[in-house]
Amino acid sequence: MNDLSRSAMQAITDVPQDHLSSFWMPFTANRHFKARPRLLARAEGMYYYTPEGRPILDAVAGLWCVNAGHCRKPIVEAIQKAAATLDFAPTFQMGHPLAFELAEMLTDLAGPPFSQVFYACSGSEAVDTAMKIALAYHRMRGEGQRTRFIGRERGYNGVGFGGISVGGIPANRKLFGSMLPNVDHLPHTHNLQHNAFSQGQPQWGDHLADELERMVTLHDASNIAAVVVETVAGSTGVLIPPKGYLERLRALCDKHGILLIFDEVITGFGRIGKPFGWQRFGVVPDMFTVAKGINSAAVPMSAVFTREGIYEAFMSGPEHLIEFAHGYTYSAHPLACAAAIAAQNLYLDEGLFERAGDGPDGVGPYWQERLHSLKGEPHVIDIRNFGLMGAVELSSRADGVSKRALDAHVKAFFEEDLMIRYTGDSIALSPPLIVSKPEIDRIVEGIRSVLRRLD
Ligand SMILES: Cc1ncc(COP(=O)(O)O)c(C=O)c1O
Repeated sequence: MNDLSRSAMQAITDVPQDHLSSFWMPFTANRHFKARPRLLARAEGMYYYTPEGRPILDAVAGLWCVNAGHCRKPIVEAIQKAAATLDFAPTFQMGHPLAFELAEMLTDLAGPPFSQVFYACSGSEAVDTAMKIALAYHRMRGEGQRTRFIGRERGYNGVGFGGISVGGIPANRKLFGSMLPNVDHLPHTHNLQHNAFSQGQPQWGDHLADELERMVTLHDASNIAAVVVETVAGSTGVLIPPKGYLERLRALCDKHGILLIFDEVITGFGRIGKPFGWQRFGVVPDMFTVAKGINSAAVPMSAVFTREGIYEAFMSGPEHLIEFAHGYTYSAHPLACAAAIAAQNLYLDEGLFERAGDGPDGVGPYWQERLHSLKGEPHVIDIRNFGLMGAVELSSRADGVSKRALDAHVKAFFEEDLMIRYTGDSIALSPPLIVSKPEIDRIVEGIRSVLRRLD
């Protein structure tokens, strides 16, 4: 630890405890954090800065979301202008131009068959919105008995009741007895015996999609509304779909008239080398959700993309009646729209959608090679990568799951000036798309150094 880090840590741990107690922190071990607070006061480009000014290299784009890098000028200025021009306008029974302009930009980016976007304010709301659209769509078509959803084990689809019901992370479900009824789960695709240290998409596991056929036999296709899965499962520790897996899911959904919903809250907007993950995999869903990178996380916003035919199915009743009784006060908030338009332009101007890919402007192969150089370091039992996502899975300590990865996260922050995430015993990585090769080296070497000092 250098002198600056040492004094920064001292200053942070000197924060009076009573200043920390009122904020009940989300998805955080509150007591552990408040004993060793990790505070971020400012950000720019690839870096956060602590209250004392110590730069922290951001290896996770905040929370898988700051795709363009921090405090980018065009986005900041667009928000400032919007705040001074139109602080708020409802999109229930009224509209404002930025909302329509952004929707056109987004549907152009996705291309056919995607023709509409429905705005919400968080990934969780986008998932619940997509699920409600699915139920209502079937009902509009006279198949209202299609009420069952199929999610996936280890899936993370946010924290609404829809999302936790189709999601499959036990810790996110166990405190809340009541889930949506009529939900079943595909098996997850994580298998170290077959796939440890796969580079990119694993070879083994596409047959796991065929479990859907078993569920169709059990429940009957006529009762199933939709399958909801992430293209790449992020929050559970970056589980990459085996080759052919998503294709098989698509084929089975087609065969049985089931809607396929991809949750692209993480993989949207360049995270895996294309604007949207489904474009990289070449598998077209019926709907997909986005959030985070939509405006590089500058203002809360999310959206559901729907394919042609879905919106039209709703446009059948009397014209004076609301067709879909759903929406949020802050759907298409002017500041969020302004930030999104600026972010989308920035992504295009700087070629950021290609950064995570394998092409001439992509750093995907470099990321892969450098990340896998950690194989053989202490405690490492798997390394996974795709686009600019990655995970380094560690063996669990005898005294508890996630303790080793939590230690790695804390050590990285205080001793390597590096922000990484942990989930279970996996270190999860997703740097802003502007990350340079030397910064990738710093991320990897910082982790290596931490691994060598871990118990
Ligand atoms: C795939 C996926 N879906 C949904 C969500 C929920 O998003 P939010 O936290 O904005 O509600 C997340 C958040 O990480 C996510 O990764």
